[in-house]
Amino acid sequence: DKGNHRHFMEKEIYEQPEAISHALGHYIDFAERKVSAIAGSIDFANLSGLAISACGTAYLAGLTSKYWFERYARLPVEIDVASEFRYREVPLNANSAALFISQSGETADTLASLRYCRDAGLKIGAVVNVRESTIARESDAIFPILAGPEIGVASTKAFTCQLSVLAALAIGAGRQRGTISAELEQTLVGHLAEMPRIMSAVLNRIQPTIETLARDLSKCKDVLYLGRGTSYPLAMEGALKLKEISYIHAEGYAAGELKHGPIALIDENMPVIVIAPHDRFFEKTVSNMQEVAARGGRIIFITDEKGAAASDLPTMATIVLPDVDEAIQPMIFSLPIQLLAYHTAVFMGTDVDQPRNLAKSVTVE
Ligand code: F6R
Repeated sequence: DKGNHRHFMEKEIYEQPEAISHALGHYIDFAERKVSAIAGSIDFANLSGLAISACGTAYLAGLTSKYWFERYARLPVEIDVASEFRYREVPLNANSAALFISQSGETADTLASLRYCRDAGLKIGAVVNVRESTIARESDAIFPILAGPEIGVASTKAFTCQLSVLAALAIGAGRQRGTISAELEQTLVGHLAEMPRIMSAVLNRIQPTIETLARDLSKCKDVLYLGRGTSYPLAMEGALKLKEISYIHAEGYAAGELKHGPIALIDENMPVIVIAPHDRFFEKTVSNMQEVAARGGRIIFITDEKGAAASDLPTMATIVLPDVDEAIQPMIFSLPIQLLAYHTAVFMGTDVDQPRNLAKSVTVE
């Protein structure tokens, strides 16, 4: 049942605040503002490393979590797409653990990577939506994302629930490893707790701007997304979402890679979507944006209030989100990324929930 939405994808985008509250309730003690004991779990305290593998959007959630595990838990993360990981002959240290992220819990390459790690004697954790899935069954510890059924082929609420659960795990791992203070844990958990409310406010506000922009985007052949820090995986997620449902060619790049190749593509026909909250990387990303502007590139600037105030570069459009802590930026900034892909596809008239050539669960290699 789509309720009063045109597509499941749209419904699932709007369900995110509620889905995330529900998911976080499982991992967070809101009264104490700390991560609850991570039940039946991996002992993060004594790990020497964490190997993560997954596919598609789940991989991009994993890539985002690498920044968190490394920053908050000082835990080295090895991450790759499962189709590469499974054949790469990764030398695994028995003192590391492996984490697999999958909405369906049935993705063939992810399952094969899991079995490879299990045979190497690693402790296995699964971040899944479907708790009865094969990946969940074959794991030592299950971390459910509790997103509820996701019908749209393009993943939306599963992505932000994966991010939320992974953020909680990274903070919990930081506590176990003694790499974050009790005070920082409380602050970070406080940010996670306020996230659903911020998301609702953003969802209620940005649609008109996004729709106008989507009309322009639907006329383009190619789109480039740029971001730094955790906005880099989000740039790739934005490009993935757009190409999946609108069939417009899109690429996501680390902003710092611009001058190593993609800058050759910049002209007035290719919009560049710059994802740049006012974080530690802002100035750097703005200088990349300058390089785009100097070559006549059209910029769609997705930023926050501080970021909008700090840049006066001409843009084709600027989407301004509230200022939020770095820890929750990826979830908040996912919203315009998802809605932009969605409305562009609606303008194109594609089959948004069942895009051509794609399946919700990829059980063959
Ligand atoms: C993107 C998308 C796919 C899946 C990928 C992994 O919108 O839906 O990229 O994320 O096929 O699927 P799961 O998470 O079921 O392993």
